[in-house]
Amino acid sequence: MLRFETAGESHGECLVATLTGLPAGIPVSVADINYELWRRQQGYGRGGRMKIETDEVEIVAGVRHSHTIGSPVALLIRNRDWPNWTQALPVEDIAGAEQHPKPVTRPRPGHADLAGAIKYNFHDARYILERASARETAARVAVGALAKGLLGVFGIEVLSHVIGVGHALLERTAAWEEIVALRQKKEVLLGCVDAETEARMKEVVDEAYRTGDTVGGVFEVRAHGVPPGLGSHVTWDSRLDGRLAQAIVSMQAVKGVEVGFAQEGAVSFGSKVQDTIHYDREARHFTRGANRAGGIEGGMTNGQDILVRGMLKPISTLRRPLESVDLLTREPSPAAYERSDVCVVPAAGVIGEAMVAIVLAQAFLEKFGGDSLTETRRNFDSYLEQVKNY
Ligand SMILES: Cc1cc2nc3c(=O)[nH]c(=O)nc-3n(C[C@H](O)[C@H](O)[C@H](O)COP(=O)(O)O)c2cc1C
Repeated sequence: MLRFETAGESHGECLVATLTGLPAGIPVSVADINYELWRRQQGYGRGGRMKIETDEVEIVAGVRHSHTIGSPVALLIRNRDWPNWTQALPVEDIAGAEQHPKPVTRPRPGHADLAGAIKYNFHDARYILERASARETAARVAVGALAKGLLGVFGIEVLSHVIGVGHALLERTAAWEEIVALRQKKEVLLGCVDAETEARMKEVVDEAYRTGDTVGGVFEVRAHGVPPGLGSHVTWDSRLDGRLAQAIVSMQAVKGVEVGFAQEGAVSFGSKVQDTIHYDREARHFTRGANRAGGIEGGMTNGQDILVRGMLKPISTLRRPLESVDLLTREPSPAAYERSDVCVVPAAGVIGEAMVAIVLAQAFLEKFGGDSLTETRRNFDSYLEQVKNY
């Protein structure tokens, strides 16, 4: 069973994560993890924090000589902003700390501030937003990079691209090669494969900047090279589509998910949306007329690319604040503003990749198991042989 946990707050000392259940012998590269962390920080519309911070992972357990050893992997990512917060958010009470508070008493609509402050009984939403913040996703991306390391050994790749920013939408399907090329780019604008559409997306972000507003959008994650048979139809919680949906909607600001062409399917006749089945006698394998199911039928992978989309609401912190109420005085007051992103759709795509990679790695190890890479590979190869001879 592959499982992970994260801890850490936005302005605390660091983020930490543990990942338990990886077989021994999986290659691990700090440079590869850092590249994923860099990708999470890119995109037009990010706030000032991305400029002061370049995330770097430290692996403190579970990896020796660039390979897993079968024990839990522990990671940490330091918050470079921490020195500015040591007095406002000290771990142990220090004399004079009350001189340096950074309270948030005017909760932001759409954020965790109000619900969290009531639930945890604080009259300062600071402790809530510190953990609700998407800063936590840096730890998820680092864990996702380890999951990608496992999947990569077996020829499975997970990538993303942006298909919508506000009302600017990509009107065509992206080819896998285009998404691969996007990942190599050293300058990330909005993560769209189509330059003309990306320019329209940028106009939307510019309008949000001009008006003190924010925008959301849609990202798509694709997994390529996935064998048939991950996940299962037999129980509600083994169905892979359900597990992917939970993983994607667990992301901060993601409010909707789509597997395959779900929205299009919902408004079409059945004859138009199912992926017809064919057989290539020479190659001795089944082929499909399309991939509208997004690579999953009956909760199982069917061998086609997995296709999952996440729908992000616009960021909740607005430079032109929304109406709120002060937690202490109960008087109407504009919501708090703190340095904030305006658009995060490309970054959300990278986080979505991590979440999909983690869920796929879990399903992969459920099916193939193994305490060492040698054992996992033996199980995998033997299953592929069975599929070939089916
Ligand atoms: C990559 C990323 C960056 C984000 N940056 C911000 C931000 O700068 N300011 C903000 O108010 N919300 C930001 N959010 C969204 C909030 O974290 C999120 O809206 C909040 O935690 C409440 O959760 P919910 O929207 O899922 O209900 C970001 C989300 C993501 C995925």
